Amino acid sequence: MHTLRDISELRRTLREHRLRGQRIALVPTMGNLHAGHLALVTRARANADVVVASLFVNPLQFGPGEDLDAYPRTFEADQAQLVEAGCDILFAPAVSALYPNGLTTQTRVHVPEVGAGLCGGSRPGHFDGVSTVVSMLFNLVQPDIACFGQKDYQQLAVIRKLVSDLHLPIEIIGVPIVRADDGLALSSRNGYLSPEERAIAPTLYRTLCTLRDALEQGESIDQTLHQGKAALYDAGFVPDYLELRDPALGAVRDATRDAVLLAAAQLGPARLIDNLSVRLP
Ligand code: PAJ
Repeated sequence: MHTLRDISELRRTLREHRLRGQRIALVPTMGNLHAGHLALVTRARANADVVVASLFVNPLQFGPGEDLDAYPRTFEADQAQLVEAGCDILFAPAVSALYPNGLTTQTRVHVPEVGAGLCGGSRPGHFDGVSTVVSMLFNLVQPDIACFGQKDYQQLAVIRKLVSDLHLPIEIIGVPIVRADDGLALSSRNGYLSPEERAIAPTLYRTLCTLRDALEQGESIDQTLHQGKAALYDAGFVPDYLELRDPALGAVRDATRDAVLLAAAQLGPARLIDNLSVRLP
C-alpha cells in the first residue's frame, strides 16, 4: 500500500491507473479504523481494481465545542488494518494541504433539504463540512465508485443528493451497519465511553428494535416514538432525536411502507447515532 500525503502525487499515481483503464474506488474516513470502516474497504475491493482510502480528520465538519481535538488519531494502526483489508492507496493529507487558505474563507457545498433536521439540526454546518470535503476528495480521486456506511444514514443521503445534483459520474454504495456482538453500532466515538456507559450503550439499538417491532405491528407512530424517548432517558441517555422518516428522509405519509427509524442520543461524553429500517403495515 502506498501512503500519499501530497495532492499532486495522488493525482499522478491515479492518472496512471486510469490510463490503464482500471476502476477506482474511494473510501473516505477520519481514521481510528474499526470493522465498520474495513467493511467499506472490503466492499470497495470487490467492486474495483484500485482501492483508495482517505484518512483526514476534517476540521470543517466539527462545530465549536465538538470533539475535533479529542478525536482519536491512530495512524499506524490504521495503516496496518488497511494493508490487511487490501487497500492500495492511503491518502492522508495535512489540513494545510486541503485548506491552504484556512477554513473561514473556504467555499462550501450546501445540500439544503436532506442536510436539514436530524443531525443537521443539532450540528449546524456539519453537513456543509462533510459535503465540502467529500466533494474535494471526489475531485482529487475521481473515483468510479465510493463507499459510505449506512450507520451515518443522513450523511449517505446528503452524499447521494450532491452526486446527483452536481452530475458527478460516481456510483455511491451504501454499506450495512457493522455492530458489536451486543448490537452496538461500531463507532470511533464508542472509545469515549466508560465501562459502565459501554454496558448501557447497546440499549440504543435494543430500543430501536423494540420500536421497530411495535411500528411493524401497527402501533401509533407518535406514541411509539414518545415511549422510545422515555425508554432512552430511563436507560441514562439524553436523546437528541428519535424520528421515523421515509428512506429519502422525507416525512412519513399514509402511503409510506418502507421507512427508517433514526436516533441520536448523548451517553456521557459520546454522541451515539443509529438507525434501522422499518416496514410499515
Ligand atoms: P468516519 O466517521 O471515519 O466514517 C467513515 C465511513 O465509515 C463513513 O461512511 C461511515 O458511515 C462508515 N462507518 C462508520 N462506522 C460504521 C459501522 N459501524 N458500520 C458501517 N459503516 C460505518 O463519516 C466520516 O468519517 C466523515 O464524515 C467523512 C465521510 C470521512 C467525511 O469527513
